Amino acid sequence: MEDRTAHVEASGFTDHVLVCTTDRDGKHACCGEAKADDVLDAVKEWLRDRGVFWSSVHVAETSCLGLCSESGTAVAIQPRGRWYAGVTPSEVSDLLEAEFGSDADRLGVGPTVK
Ligand code: FES
Repeated sequence: MEDRTAHVEASGFTDHVLVCTTDRDGKHACCGEAKADDVLDAVKEWLRDRGVFWSSVHVAETSCLGLCSESGTAVAIQPRGRWYAGVTPSEVSDLLEAEFGSDADRLGVGPTVK
């Protein structure tokens, strides 16, 4: 095991956007059946358009975040402690703008949406 905390901090890490892409068979809703891949692509595109994808902002696909919904995908933004359920691809821009600012100039500043 190697502790890479100092490396990540030195890289300028500010925020981690977690997108649930869980797809499973069964009777319960899952993000994979609610356009999770499109939400993930929209998150990456929004960040790329502002030149911050894989800079201080990291994006990761996750397994179930416990916010399953038929209407959309679960998204969490850490360490600011923000949790969203039912996110659709068309809502990603407004969500990220509310969190990070329209030009992604509010990275690493903590919660901005109440
Ligand atoms: S399947 Fe995505 S939050 Fe549960």
